[in-house]
This record gives sequence, structure tokens and C-alpha cells, in this order.
Amino acid sequence: MTHAHITTWVVALILFVVAIALQAKGNEKTKMVHMMLRLFYVLIIATGAWILYTMSSFPALYIVKVVVGLWVIGAMEMILIRTAKGKNTNVLWLQFITAFVVALYLGFKLPFGFSFFS
Ligand code: HEM
Repeated sequence: MTHAHITTWVVALILFVVAIALQAKGNEKTKMVHMMLRLFYVLIIATGAWILYTMSSFPALYIVKVVVGLWVIGAMEMILIRTAKGKNTNVLWLQFITAFVVALYLGFKLPFGFSFFS
């Protein structure tokens, strides 16, 4: 299931980059890619929740992992929406990068699946 979880956020990341690129060109397909990205938010959350469901108990750090994971999703959504409105997104990009790095670190540190950092 961790492989499914990784697949969903990698696909989401690609869709996010594509949406940003299309949006910059004012391409009308941006909306479609954004909708697909939203579907992948749900899949990321569902696979993450499934991992939690399969565990009998989990350390408090898992709560932090979930919150940071949701923060990454929130930042992607806000960046796309605010860019569409022509508003400044510098702070959001900073949040996105920080949250993404922390999510990767925690994900790979926590005992389930790959554990590169422990
Ligand atoms: C885009 C946002 C996210 C990223 C980049 C991300 C990244 C990761 C990574 C790299 C892993 C490690 C997989 C492995 O070791 O095989 C992981 C595991 C996990 N993720 Fe996420 N995740 C995100 C969102 C979420 C969300 C929203 C949830 C909660 C619903 C969640 C819950 C979990 C859980 C419970 C694990 C297992 C932790 C462990 O390795 O023991 N993740 N995630």
C-alpha cells in the first residue's frame, strides 16, 4: 500500500507541474488537469488513511505526517487558485517546498515501507 501511496503523490506532483505550466500559458486545459489533480488529492488521502487503518497502533509522529501531508495538498491547491486570480504566491511556494520536504522525510523515516532515514 505504501507503493500505491507513493504512486498517487508522484502522479499528483506531475499533474501539479503540468497545471502550473498550462496556467502560465493561459491554456484552457488547465481546468481539466486541475480537476484530475483534485482526484489524486483524494487518492493520496485514501491510501494514507488505508496505511493508518492497517496499523494496530502508531506513534504520535504519524499525526504530524498526516498533518504535513494535508499541508502539501493545501499548498498545491492554494498556489493554483491564487495564481489563477493573479495574486502573489511566494509564501505559498515556500510552504509547499517546506511541507513537501518534511512529508518526504517523515514518510521515509517512519517504520512502514521504505525507511531511508532511520
Ligand atoms: C503530497 C503529500 C504527501 C507526500 C509527499 C507523502 C509522502 C510519503 C512518503 C514518502 C511516505 C513513505 C512511504 C514508504 O516508506 O514506503 C509516506 C508514507 C505515509 N503517508 Fe504520506 N505523503 C503525503 C500525504 C499523506 C496524507 C495526506 C496522509 C494521511 C491521510 C499520509 C499518510 C501516510 C502514512 C500513514 C504513511 C506511512 C508512514 C510510514 O512509512 O510508516 N500521507 N508518505
